[in-house]
Amino acid sequence: ALYPVIMAGGSGTRFWPLSRQARPKQFLPLASKYPLITDTAARLKGLASMKNLFIVCGPLHAKAASKLVKGLPKQNLLVEPVARNTAPAIALATVQVAARDPKGILIVLPSDHHVANPEGFRQTLAEAARVAEAGHIVTLGIKPHRPETGYGYIQLGEPLEGGGRKVKAFKEKPDLETARGYVDSGEFLWNGGIFVFRADVMLEAFAKHMPEMKKGLEALRAAAGKRTFSSVLKRVFPKLPSISIDYGVMEKAENIAVLPGDFGWSDVGSFSAIPEVRPADARGNVISGPESIVVDCDGCVVLGDKRPLAVVGMKDVVVVDAGDAVLVVPKDKSQDVRKVVEALKAGK
Ligand code: GDD
Ligand code: MG
Repeated sequence: ALYPVIMAGGSGTRFWPLSRQARPKQFLPLASKYPLITDTAARLKGLASMKNLFIVCGPLHAKAASKLVKGLPKQNLLVEPVARNTAPAIALATVQVAARDPKGILIVLPSDHHVANPEGFRQTLAEAARVAEAGHIVTLGIKPHRPETGYGYIQLGEPLEGGGRKVKAFKEKPDLETARGYVDSGEFLWNGGIFVFRADVMLEAFAKHMPEMKKGLEALRAAAGKRTFSSVLKRVFPKLPSISIDYGVMEKAENIAVLPGDFGWSDVGSFSAIPEVRPADARGNVISGPESIVVDCDGCVVLGDKRPLAVVGMKDVVVVDAGDAVLVVPKDKSQDVRKVVEALKAGK
């Protein structure tokens, strides 16, 4: 059977003042009128039974996650005592699935992406599941259109008999020059951050490539499905290494396959990505809020709250009113919004 696992532990800082510690990006309605995490779960309908859906997140976000994803079985909300990045988060879900269905197939998804064509997305995932059945760890590859340094890059290898391609190399977050070379070569795809694999195959990969997790994983496996699980989790999880699946497993494993997909993928990385995922007016402005007014603007992102918000004669600017805080930033500097959060944390 298929087991979708939504990872919702991230604490995006590039969407301040909409995102706050208790309400990171995945809980914001950035691409539609629903929060990204709600859309993420909804687009899986028809692919897998919601009985098999899991969410992995931290204690601060557990309540919001279960409220925003309707139909999530209570026991499938996996709460990490502390954040340890995606390798341990995925290990936690894999152990749980393995206890029920050792050869069950996990579909691990970020909670904070947008997909414009859900039907095409489901088709690609169904095919990925077939490739995973044969023992591969499958990623979805996206055609790159800029030398983004915040992504993983997948070098395409031989076509596989059962569909998809072998992966020659997986490089997580290269520097700009390397990324440029990758994009120009035409041999690389972006890693979409979605992973499909059999539970037993991933457990083997952890044993082989992350031996530092061995003891902890064994303890979790022994307790899975038992009453003692949550106390074992509290004891063991903080000792796991803080590392992403990309560095921990994907860069090292040999049984990696990729399915290229074209389904309107966006990871909605910052305010400048909003026009990629939301309809704009004739002059390229994205406007929200019942009282927002835009006069003679081009390419602006204007997100208002309940009170009037007016922007006049601006080009490529982001203006956001969160009710209790306001942000103004040129679109091409919207990555720097995380510096605001740093400054606020430092008490400046
Ligand atoms: N439960 C849990 N616990 N979830 C986590 C944790 C954690 O400790 N850390 C991150 N996540 C969740 C985030 O909420 C997000 O949905 C997903 O895991 C990926 O984490 P990011 O922190 O957003 O990763 P990234 O964007 O830097 O890189 C990954 O995604 C790129 C595509 O967007 C990598 O897989 C790259 O290779 C990939 O290109
Ligand atoms: Mg991300």
